[in-house]
Amino acid sequence: PPVRRFAVALPVPPVLRPVATEGGTDRYEVRQLPAEVEILPGLPTPIWGYEGIFPGPTIEARSGRPVAVRHRNHLTVPTVVHLHGGVTPADSDGYPLDLVLPVGRHDWPGHHVPDGPGGPGGTAGLAHGQRVYRYPNQQPAATLWYHDHRMDFTGPQVCRGLAGFYLLRDEAEENLPLPRGERELPLMICDRLFNEDGSFFYPSLDPELRDRPGVHALFADGVRGDTILVNGVPWPFVPVDGARYRLRILNASNARSYHLHLDPPPPGGAGLVQIGSDVGLLPRPVAHDSLYVGPGERYDVVVDFSRYPPGTSVLLGNGAGDGPTAEVLRFDVGPRVVDDSAIPERLGPDLEPLDVAGAVTTRTFRFLGGQGGLPATINLRTFEPDRLDARVRLGSTEIWRITVDPEHPFHLHLGHFRIVDRNGVPPEPQDGGWKDTVQVRAGEVRIAVRFTGHPGRYVLHCHNLEHGDMMMMANYEVV
Ligand code: C2O
Ligand code: CU
Repeated sequence: PPVRRFAVALPVPPVLRPVATEGGTDRYEVRQLPAEVEILPGLPTPIWGYEGIFPGPTIEARSGRPVAVRHRNHLTVPTVVHLHGGVTPADSDGYPLDLVLPVGRHDWPGHHVPDGPGGPGGTAGLAHGQRVYRYPNQQPAATLWYHDHRMDFTGPQVCRGLAGFYLLRDEAEENLPLPRGERELPLMICDRLFNEDGSFFYPSLDPELRDRPGVHALFADGVRGDTILVNGVPWPFVPVDGARYRLRILNASNARSYHLHLDPPPPGGAGLVQIGSDVGLLPRPVAHDSLYVGPGERYDVVVDFSRYPPGTSVLLGNGAGDGPTAEVLRFDVGPRVVDDSAIPERLGPDLEPLDVAGAVTTRTFRFLGGQGGLPATINLRTFEPDRLDARVRLGSTEIWRITVDPEHPFHLHLGHFRIVDRNGVPPEPQDGGWKDTVQVRAGEVRIAVRFTGHPGRYVLHCHNLEHGDMMMMANYEVV
């Protein structure tokens, strides 16, 4: 039965409390648990959740203050946790082969499990039951997120619910008069398919997710749902004051892209004022009528609802969808209230000019296939755990050309980048700032990637999770 839209209020995921603080490190414990939740009215949906909830609890961290998260795997399959956007040492980055076996399991079928502890290139290798992930947080304030990254099975495991926010804050940002508290809303947007009984539908070839990866051919280009969830509930409504709100938009969908806009737009338009990109604040705000948001990307925006007459219902619409997927959520605007927030003209220091000509190396990564039975390849090859596809120098900046056919969301671990151009023309207004994921919609995007932080082995891959599971992924090593 079709779900009524705008019937449930938007929930905000709870913030996880550290269990201890030792030597300046905040320690957290997360259990990966099966649970049943009510997503569709009156029907139970079995999920796998961090702490048994979907989205998982939000971790609030501070720049420069380390966090250690102990994850315990109480599920029936191996898991891997990746902090998306994190500048993380290789042994905590969630390399897809760094499996954490379920509590009580001592082996796993299949040959992709390297002998642990310690995998190649400083990766962590195999763990039994639990693993402590260490995040130095040596990077500016940003909207990061954590999600499962198990080799070959990321798509189904994220679909089941293994995703949560990780909000990194710092003093520079806190000194800005941006909306905060109840007027700062993380929005995890994703789409799902449901079975009649309320369970998630996911077309795995192996429903037990044991050792046979992949999805039915019909879904090879990615699993897209007909139900849009925000923070785990279908098409929520959000009562808002006539005031400014900060929306931390995350597209956590397996494969769906969104083209978000406000309907109606506020008088004068340009209602989505972008203040941040994937991994930090922009130097100055940029106002948009609409934003493309590919899988894995984040857009930090401020919307001033006082521009609307009280009583207006404002839809967050998706121009890239049709029917039910053309709608995401609805803001119900209340009376105007005192609002001491502002969007400062200056959010952070100017970005240094890109020295494209001076870059040490230019590489090309060609993302091809994944549709219509074609293998999902990068430079015509699928992922090989033992093959190193690129070696880069710690501290260097490289120009990477990402070419696609027809459309793939590119993501790399560790390195952050800026967009140089799209098909040879200057980047789009929404492309500014430092990023870790870019939706390459057609042709080519050139990026300038900076490798800072840590040496070791990391992956780059398509963030269409089904393509990633079809091994549209490559190894690179920072030396
Ligand atoms: Cu969000 Cu390697 O992924
Ligand atoms: Cu892809």
